[in-house]
Amino acid sequence: MKFAEREIKLKDGRTCVLKPNSPEYAAEMIEFMKKTAGETEYLLRYPDEVSFTVEKEKEILGNILEDPYHIMMIAVVDGKPAGNGSVSGIGTKRKIQHRCTLAIALYEEFWGLGIGSAMINYLSELAAGIGWKQLDLEVVADNERAQALYRKCGFVESGRRHNALRFDDGTYHDEILMYKDLT
Ligand SMILES: CC(C)(COP(=O)(O)OP(=O)(O)OC[C@H]1O[C@@H](n2cnc3c(N)ncnc32)[C@H](O)[C@@H]1OP(=O)(O)O)[C@@H](O)C(=O)NCCC(=O)NCCS
Repeated sequence: MKFAEREIKLKDGRTCVLKPNSPEYAAEMIEFMKKTAGETEYLLRYPDEVSFTVEKEKEILGNILEDPYHIMMIAVVDGKPAGNGSVSGIGTKRKIQHRCTLAIALYEEFWGLGIGSAMINYLSELAAGIGWKQLDLEVVADNERAQALYRKCGFVESGRRHNALRFDDGTYHDEILMYKDLT
């Protein structure tokens, strides 16, 4: 989906632009997915599971840009991607049409500068504008930084999914379910 760019001031004084992700960032997004997957255990993919070609990624980003029910937001600092966040519908059946789901990740060097909060606030605003009533997410139970951020942005815990994830080291991890009321 297309939406207006928004400039924010970071805690270190730099400027960050939040704008629709687009095919021009395809190669950088593949690099982003690989690197961030290695920087934290809290994203779904392992680096070796990022297997998109630049052509395929261009097509995916192009389709999302034209989809009125899929928001893909890139955070750009000094002309380079710092993070990516998305909101999309849960499904098209009428009983679940009021819900959407959020995902977000930043390069580690950009953690703690306020980008996460600004992205979630803008994504929530856009999601409410589309007409969704509830924004859902799942977060690994050990991921305290992300949960603190989500609580700060108005999310409430609503449940726990037992052993939702199995890491390569053989350990199992619960997920916390959270939601934000958009009405
Ligand atoms: C989670 C993530 C998106 C947060 O983004 P961010 O830009 O660092 O977040 P912000 O700087 O806006 O805010 C983080 C808040 O968490 C708090 N926080 C920071 N470290 C913390 C910690 N170790 N424990 C608890 N709270 C912490 C900070 O106090 C901050 O709030 P404040 O601005 O009021 O001080 C980012 O760290 C990230 O990409 N992590 C890896 C991927 C990930 O976990 N994604 C979420 C998957 S569900």
